[in-house]
Amino acid sequence: MSGAAGAGRGSAGSATGEFDGLVAIVTGGASGIGLATARTLAARGATVAVLDRALDGLDAPDARDPERTVGAGLTGFVADVTDRASIEAAVASVADRFGGIDIVVNNAGISAVGTVEENDDAEWARVLDVNVIGMARVTSSALPWLRRSNAASVVNVCSIAALNGLPQRALYSASKGAVLALTYAMATDHVAEGVRVNCVCPGTVYTPFVERMLAGFADPVAERAALDARQATGRMVEPVEVAAAIAYLASPLAVSTTGTALDVDGGVSHLRPRPAGARS
Ligand code: NAI
Repeated sequence: MSGAAGAGRGSAGSATGEFDGLVAIVTGGASGIGLATARTLAARGATVAVLDRALDGLDAPDARDPERTVGAGLTGFVADVTDRASIEAAVASVADRFGGIDIVVNNAGISAVGTVEENDDAEWARVLDVNVIGMARVTSSALPWLRRSNAASVVNVCSIAALNGLPQRALYSASKGAVLALTYAMATDHVAEGVRVNCVCPGTVYTPFVERMLAGFADPVAERAALDARQATGRMVEPVEVAAAIAYLASPLAVSTTGTALDVDGGVSHLRPRPAGARS
């Protein structure tokens, strides 16, 4: 961070914000929650490296500023979290280019729909490889630099599926349960080194991930309405809302926050409101 580990490193010298001088990696940062997070961190002063297996999502026009793309100000690195060599090379490139690494957002993840009868062994291996082992690969590759930072933070993107029984999400839920356990274990292992580790647990967030899932249902409109209704707030979570929670956990201002799971779920985990029109 701007301090002992490297004042003003990275390319965000002109920015002003709580992340000034910090270098952040966001995996899966070319779409959805990852893209919103990358943009939020950059807007608050971080130098942001997007690690994604495909970077074309960064080229889409920015609806708020048609002169720019959504990826303007971000630096993309092609890397696949299932490939250790690719991750090690990308992480080393980020550190080399920007002078270090302070923040890792382990966001890359894929969906899986089905009961235990419906996902075969290959699907189990594929999803756990991305959603769980991918986080271990990226974090272990970044740790040598994180240890040198005085604002080191890792934020894992978990899900309410870790602790709530959602229908037809056996494999996906198992992967996110593992992310929750991994978050606590990593937070414990690295607390004495000054590396904080936390996670966010989003409810259903309207991203391309959910759009693809909806397309697989016979009646996507009805399924979307059901997903909206599942949140106590009556609508799906927006990616920028998850990004704000990730930014809070990643921020040097959250220095005493480690080993926590922050729900961003429209109240789905803990609220039991009466249905509209029901009498008290
Ligand atoms: P998304 O599909 O919009 O974006 C995921 C990004 O990860 C894409 O850019 C994709 O290219 C990248 N990616 C996938 N596999 C990769 C790999 N092997 N290596 C590198 N990059 C890879 O998805 P979304 O919705 O933004 O999800 C992001 C994270 O949030 C995931 O971990 C997901 O499980 C989690 N999540 C999503 C929720 C939702 O309702 N959308 C709810 C709770 C958690």
